[in-house]
Amino acid sequence: MNPADRIAQLCAELQRHNIAYYVHDQPTASDAEYDALMQELLALEATYPELITPESPTQRVGATPADAFGSVTHRRPMLSLGNCFSEEDLREFDARAKRHLGMDEALPLEYVCELKLDGLSISLTYENGTFVRGATRGDGATGEDITQNLKTIRGIPLKLTGENLPERIEIRGEAFLSHSEFKKANMVREEKGEATFANPRNAAAGSLRQLDSKITASRRLRAYFYAIGESLGWEPTSQSDLLEKLQNWGFPTNPHTEKFENIEGVIGHISGWTEKKNALDYDTDGMVVKIDDAVLQRELGQVSRAPRWATAFKYPALQVETVVEDIRVQVGRTGAITPLAVLTPASVAGVMVARATLHNQDEITRKDVRIGDTVTIQRAGEVIPEVVSVVLSKRLPGSVPYFLPETCPSCGSALVRPEGEAVTRCPSSETCPAQLQTRLEHFVSRNALNIDGLGGERLAQLIESGLVTGFADLFTLEKEKLLPLERMGEKLADNLLGELAQKKKTSLARLLFGLGIRHVGERGAAGLAQHFGSLEKLQGATLEQLGQVQDVGGVTAQSVFDWLQSSGPLLEKLLAVGVEAEGDEAAPTSDHFSGKSFVFTGALEKFNRDDAEALVRRLGGRASGSVSKQTSYVVAGPGAGSKREKAESLSIPILTEDEFARMLPEGTLEVK
Ligand code: IVH
Repeated sequence: MNPADRIAQLCAELQRHNIAYYVHDQPTASDAEYDALMQELLALEATYPELITPESPTQRVGATPADAFGSVTHRRPMLSLGNCFSEEDLREFDARAKRHLGMDEALPLEYVCELKLDGLSISLTYENGTFVRGATRGDGATGEDITQNLKTIRGIPLKLTGENLPERIEIRGEAFLSHSEFKKANMVREEKGEATFANPRNAAAGSLRQLDSKITASRRLRAYFYAIGESLGWEPTSQSDLLEKLQNWGFPTNPHTEKFENIEGVIGHISGWTEKKNALDYDTDGMVVKIDDAVLQRELGQVSRAPRWATAFKYPALQVETVVEDIRVQVGRTGAITPLAVLTPASVAGVMVARATLHNQDEITRKDVRIGDTVTIQRAGEVIPEVVSVVLSKRLPGSVPYFLPETCPSCGSALVRPEGEAVTRCPSSETCPAQLQTRLEHFVSRNALNIDGLGGERLAQLIESGLVTGFADLFTLEKEKLLPLERMGEKLADNLLGELAQKKKTSLARLLFGLGIRHVGERGAAGLAQHFGSLEKLQGATLEQLGQVQDVGGVTAQSVFDWLQSSGPLLEKLLAVGVEAEGDEAAPTSDHFSGKSFVFTGALEKFNRDDAEALVRRLGGRASGSVSKQTSYVVAGPGAGSKREKAESLSIPILTEDEFARMLPEGTLEVK
């Protein structure tokens, strides 16, 4: 075979493999086979340079570095999209389009839903089927000429397949880097001692705006296409028609694209992708919703820089960027020092976040978080927001690493960090006002002694004035001593003293929870109270006996045991001032739910979760926080997530609140 024919054959074969791989996602050659063909072509072209065509796959390996990018004026502006953030917004978008079209609101409009790829918008011009120019979006009117770089993206056809190709057409889409390629690119940069990319989008942008296209070639960018600009010789009849044509010409189109008969179908689809999108190997930041019919699209036209026939639904961001304005430390009940980032308030998944935990010094050091840094924060479920990472490219000059203070900001004691532990502590558990304050706040809180009228500020005042130095002091407060305090009057003092006198009699479970013993949460406290029935019996318990209590694991048992050993005087004081913790409310009054274990999850609407769990215990059952094979029922409210899924996978019956209510003995709810 003569060299020209062999070159043409190799070009065609490599193009076929590219289309199979990038467009149809069905590879027809191994990497080694592909490379062998490429090497043969490169060798032939080196010998016969006059036979190199612009669309040869070898042209993808990168050209000689340029000095600067030329600019390209888009023949039709590259538009942006309006946003929707909720189902209501989508319905309003649908209604607005219908109003504009003079259409009956009850009639359906057909839509195409496409993933909103979070990469870089690009535009490719083809003349008679040959790729001639590629550009970035730029400001929408003018972009940069990145033809050489785009040629290195193997999914971009250098020549279109098919007949009757338009004389000139501009194809638009999104170039992006997959998560795996992003990691690889960052590994390479790290090895070279270069700054890593903050996210795949930045990495894609950095790769495409490389003056040396060999670097672009090494990054393995991908692209999906979904729109056209100017077109001479072909017009689509609909978005679906356009996507089909793009495929036929050899462009990769996103496989997760679907057509719907009306906006309700779109809404269902969008909600179904909330979680699913997180499993993809590339970033998406929403769903693009497009009216399918091209005639209607033209009639709707555009307003400012966005079409009226398309919108972008944005999923609430779980991660956002904001600035660390300050780092403060908090002293916990047990003296643990927790550093907190004070942030420029930012909305994370619809909730304003102004503070995020930095956990401890090791975490601060690992992430190298500094005051003034721009950081990525995240909120997952109901947990406290946390700082995920620092956006190093935005670090201000002159910033310095952060270290926890050496002394307690509350009492001035030297802080300690025991060998091998991550937590730094204030050792002055008896005298540190901050520790006392948080201990007291917990002691009087709703699920502990439930003392009304004792908020954080009032407690701080009582501590500062020296009237309260521990739990027991609360119950020996006298009216004459209270009255001189600021913002205190006769009535308030009477109310507070009345409340304290009344809440002195409490349940053992509430008292145990309120004492703030490490590892003892509400469930553990309820388990201990139910098991031992009285403080006296609990005090006499051995470590082994403690370990046998429901909802009390080995670590908790040890912690309770240690606490009891050292807290005799504290308990004596409480008893001396009249605190009574008998008549445990958690002691079962019936065996209605005996042997049954319940898990409550989701946002319960009819029951308060604590009350529902207490009710189950009163009826002889168990209330647990996690689903296991031992769980008898899961009661799920709206928004129930992983626990519900686990229950489904274990075939555990899932009840609504109403169904749970119907299981209760008659009259239970009234007498509660
Ligand atoms: S259509 C006239 N479809 O989102 C319609 N855009 O916010 C113009 N994008 O600049 C865009 N995926 O970079 C469209 N399936 C998709 C998209 C998409 C990502 C980007 C694109 C555009 C931006 C608009």
